[in-house]
Amino acid sequence: MDTYGIIGWPVSHSLSPAMHNAVLKSLGIKAVYGLLPLAPQNLSEGIKGIRALNIKGVSVTVPHKEAVIPLLDDIDPVASKIGAVNTIVNKDSLLLGFNTDWIGVKKALKEKIDISGKKAVVVGAGGAAKAVVYALIREGASVVIYNRTFEKAQKLAQTLGGVAFPWEELKNASGDILIQTTSVGLKEDKSPVPEEILSQFEVVMDIVYQPLKTRLLKEAEKAGCKIIDGLSMLVYQGIEQFYLWFGTRPQASLMREAAEKELLGENNDQKRN
Ligand SMILES: NC(=O)c1ccc[n+]([C@@H]2O[C@H](COP(=O)([O-])OP(=O)(O)OC[C@H]3O[C@@H](n4cnc5c(N)ncnc54)[C@H](OP(=O)(O)O)[C@@H]3O)[C@@H](O)[C@H]2O)c1
Repeated sequence: MDTYGIIGWPVSHSLSPAMHNAVLKSLGIKAVYGLLPLAPQNLSEGIKGIRALNIKGVSVTVPHKEAVIPLLDDIDPVASKIGAVNTIVNKDSLLLGFNTDWIGVKKALKEKIDISGKKAVVVGAGGAAKAVVYALIREGASVVIYNRTFEKAQKLAQTLGGVAFPWEELKNASGDILIQTTSVGLKEDKSPVPEEILSQFEVVMDIVYQPLKTRLLKEAEKAGCKIIDGLSMLVYQGIEQFYLWFGTRPQASLMREAAEKELLGENNDQKRN
């Protein structure tokens, strides 16, 4: 029985075990996926542990996505460009780093809109925004980035493309696609985006998924936009992880149902990624 898991700190509220174990069970694959809580100061030892314990595949979440890079044997060029690894494949004790978050964003968006040639507004410039900006630029969108800390928006634009704007100017933002990547709205009834600007966007996506329908998404729906919740990105990045480990892409509905059940289940009010 092969072992897989997720490293992060904290990680106890991850939805990934539910998602991956549901698929493993459904496909009759004899493997188990578990939580691997790993404090930042133990990251280096933890990565050695993956080799020592022959753990076949690992998801990587906050705060390890960047710090893990120098500890791996090889990094996929796309993960290297994005500057973050969210998936490790253990191939004969060589640890290979990949990024599937950007594919999660791309596939979630493509269910609702053709990205090529569109103007996209990205709100936030933290870790998750990197994969978002990379996906948008790669798919041919023009990107503007608004972040509370302007320098971080500038750095993101310099590294991956797009143009940075000051946070105060978000009230004047316009475009076809708006993607909210800050942690505002996580377990709170708040939106960082002024409601007045929403009606001009065709699609509004929030990568926060607790609650599933954030205040931003409720307001966007009211304004007539197509909306995409954060679980779509999580599910599609998970499908690509599964593909890297097992060579097959599970049905999105299977992972989504498992994630929703876990997220909405009783006593599960603390879930994150
Ligand atoms: N759906 C998915 O698959 C998925 C994947 C990854 C992450 N996420 C979610 O995305 C969110 C962000 O994650 P992350 O890893 O990017 O976090 P992060 O690296 O800590 O970045 C946080 C971002 O939120 C901004 N922010 C925080 N508080 C703010 C406030 N009060 N007003 C305005 N901006 C504020 C920060 O701005 P400053 O730069 O000014 O601090 C920064 O841009 C989390 O809720 C996470 O759960 C979802």
